[in-house]
Amino acid sequence: MESLLAKVNELQKLVNLSHVKVDISLPQIVVVGAQSAGKSSVLESIVGKDFLPRGQGIVTRMPLIIQCHNDEEEFAIFQHLPSVIFKDFAKVRDEIIAETNKKAGSRKAIVDQPILLEIYSPLVVNITLVDLPGLTKNPVGDQPRNISVLIEEMVLDYIKKENAIILAISPGNNDIANSDALKIARDVDPRGERTLGVLTKLDIMDKGTSAINVLLGEEYPLAHGYVGVVCRSQADITNNVSILDHLDKEAEFFRTHPDYKLIQDQAGIPYLTQRLQEILFEKLKRALPSIKEGIDFQLEHRSNELENYGDPIGENKALQQNIIIKIASDYCRFLEETIEGRTDKDET
Ligand code: GDP
Ligand code: NA
Ligand code: MG
Repeated sequence: MESLLAKVNELQKLVNLSHVKVDISLPQIVVVGAQSAGKSSVLESIVGKDFLPRGQGIVTRMPLIIQCHNDEEEFAIFQHLPSVIFKDFAKVRDEIIAETNKKAGSRKAIVDQPILLEIYSPLVVNITLVDLPGLTKNPVGDQPRNISVLIEEMVLDYIKKENAIILAISPGNNDIANSDALKIARDVDPRGERTLGVLTKLDIMDKGTSAINVLLGEEYPLAHGYVGVVCRSQADITNNVSILDHLDKEAEFFRTHPDYKLIQDQAGIPYLTQRLQEILFEKLKRALPSIKEGIDFQLEHRSNELENYGDPIGENKALQQNIIIKIASDYCRFLEETIEGRTDKDET
């Protein structure tokens, strides 16, 4: 999977080089859910770095668009601070908090203007993730009376786009029938084609209860199903438990739980990441034919241009571009075959 994503990255670079106008932007992954459901915690675990403000109550108060770039070096840059290169990710978190207080004040107001953060790392793939404020019912602090409608509209703006993959996050210790995440996801994606359910907080459910029925799709079925996860608790955050250490604890939790041990291979953050990649590839596979068409069209167009016009210098430039487009075209075909091959294998 990961090597395939790397190939998609290569194709993206080639297409950029060739100046061909085709859209091969990968889908965005958007988290939705009630306040404190664990949205920021899940996103942070997917990226594998500690950099997001998390906690009880309203913490995420502006949309945060995180563009991940696969790169040899590791650093982060904010659009609003282009001259500062962040190498320390704890400072990234501080800056998100500072910018939120600057733009939205310190009294719990929310703002729909997004913060743009770019993360470069050898550990990430080229993908965009969006963290959003949680759905709420009642205003607090400086929030206007219609806060719940405002947040809902903000969330809808992001998830109604066809290229959004919705991570619908519900806390396992609440009734799934009351899930704000599933309700809003169903509004924009009634057939659940781009929604993946995530159940958090399985570690703090009432003694004697479990969410196994929900996870098995017996209560509120979803086309892509659910993944149960355990993220770091407030105490873990206070004690600076690292993401890596916590992943071991999470695996241990599923391995030893009387109900969840049956599905331990289909639970946890690593499995969630795998499922997300599968859904990404499904979407990419559907998009590839039109990408290829765009490249091939451009190729033909350029070839004609080359034959008909061109002084020696201009011709050289056109020739160079033509070669790049040709490579992109071959690459695209190769990618298509690779994805075809994978799917055939998966189906047997
Ligand atoms: P958000 O408001 O949806 O972004 O939620 P946060 O990620 O900020 O998390 C809210 C609180 O719940 C934080 O104190 C987290 O530490 C805690 N939390 C999130 N997921 C879990 C979980 O799976 N188990 C436990 N015990 N706590 C969690
Ligand atoms: Na919160
Ligand atoms: Mg949050």
